[in-house]
Amino acid sequence: MGSIASEGKPHAVCIPFPAQGHINAMLKMAKVLYSKGFHITFIHTESNYNRVIDSADRSSLCGLANFRFEKIPADIQINHPPIHGPLWAPTRSLLNKLNEPTSDMPLPTCIVSDSFMSFTLELAAELGVPNIFLCPVSACSFMGFLYYKELMARDIVPLKSESDLTNGYLETVIDWIPGMKNIRLRDLPSYIRTTDPNDILLNFCKDEAQAALRATAIIMHTFDDLERTVLDALSPILPPVYPIGPLDLLCSQILDVKIKSIWSSLWKEDSTCMDWLQGVRAPGSVIYVNFGSGVHLTSQQLTEFAWGIANSGHNFLWVIRPDMVEGGSVVLPAEFLAETSTRGLVTSWCLQEEVLRHPSVGGFLTHCGWNSTMEAISAGVPVICWPVFADQPTNSRYLCKEWGKGLEIDGNVERDEVAKQIGELLEGDEGKEVRKNALKWKESAVRATELGGKSSLHLERLIKEVMFR
Ligand code: UDX
Repeated sequence: MGSIASEGKPHAVCIPFPAQGHINAMLKMAKVLYSKGFHITFIHTESNYNRVIDSADRSSLCGLANFRFEKIPADIQINHPPIHGPLWAPTRSLLNKLNEPTSDMPLPTCIVSDSFMSFTLELAAELGVPNIFLCPVSACSFMGFLYYKELMARDIVPLKSESDLTNGYLETVIDWIPGMKNIRLRDLPSYIRTTDPNDILLNFCKDEAQAALRATAIIMHTFDDLERTVLDALSPILPPVYPIGPLDLLCSQILDVKIKSIWSSLWKEDSTCMDWLQGVRAPGSVIYVNFGSGVHLTSQQLTEFAWGIANSGHNFLWVIRPDMVEGGSVVLPAEFLAETSTRGLVTSWCLQEEVLRHPSVGGFLTHCGWNSTMEAISAGVPVICWPVFADQPTNSRYLCKEWGKGLEIDGNVERDEVAKQIGELLEGDEGKEVRKNALKWKESAVRATELGGKSSLHLERLIKEVMFR
């Protein structure tokens, strides 16, 4: 794509959904585009912008002249969508400012927005530029969201009563969603688990998925070999789809150090994790436990996880955000801390991608957020799945049943099961196949992102066919 810089000055305005997982995927995409000659404006909400500055060195935000961060004054609660109302006006006014010829950046030539931020369609139309959606979830869970509408039309969703959550109704197999075999209701993105037809999250996700039909093109953060069947099924339904991932691998393949160091973390990372891992000599001996940025645990779940991890007898690195326990602070049993002090580290936030790539890490107990899933695939690390909400049950189903790289634990956390699955994953017979498959998927992901690999080619096509024409 060497011709881009000489033909003009492409300028992508990147608009993530303002939550950590979504920000990370969008930032990686922005960095990849920057490396291909694009000017980048990356938009944070003001509160996230301030948090990023608080948690990191300021230079990690503003190091490069043609890669800028902007903030919009909007105070929003991401847990209470729709968030579009408060974001619409400030985003529009920022875009208008960027579109003034007096701006020292080239005029925006495209908007790349999260597929859960569909209000940008109207704003892109006003500017007369393409609006490419970045889908931050797996193709399989996106297909699930896309079919919320039909599930509602067929009166399968919402549930008829609360008892449907426990009476076996969620085991119903749905055999008519294209590209998805033997999918049960419980495997679909979790917002169908409501009895309220007006449920905000159910309707928000249904409408956002349908809005994707109006995007200029869609980047799926995945790769062909991983989700071929569902990608083939999405193709005739959606605007042109470009499967480009894993983005962390693509970044390591093509970015220089300066660009790689641009980062937007909402929590301060504990860099001692890497020293601690370094001190653990045995390769593959550590279970890494991290439930991402949005999951909350009850105190009872926290205690069951603690004793499950302790009783497994394995080394562990456990990341517990300060806000992770519902309605209270994080209090781990004193006996647990005493018993595990020589073989475990508990911390509040880490550099996950680096942790996963460390040879001491042998397994990952995860909530199955899509970024965590892709990062585990890139690193060849097998997983134990404890899905909680949104797309996580769908990712878990595919990890365990389709890709054979995960073991699941029940939603009602029990210490014996936690201990058993950790042992199985790290050194058991059932885990052997899972460990082997994890390495197989890593090879496949590396192939996809190498020069000439499918994700790399889709990236080139996207730029040529949609973003710079
Ligand atoms: C949310 C949803 O919960 C998830 O289901 C959806 O797929 C994406 O949006 P989140 O819960 O944050 O995401 O999970 P995930 O998608 O896994 O993203 C977490 C990101 O934060 C990853 O990129 C991970 O590397 C990073 N992270 C997490 C850290 O850098 N350090 C940590 O300690 C924890």
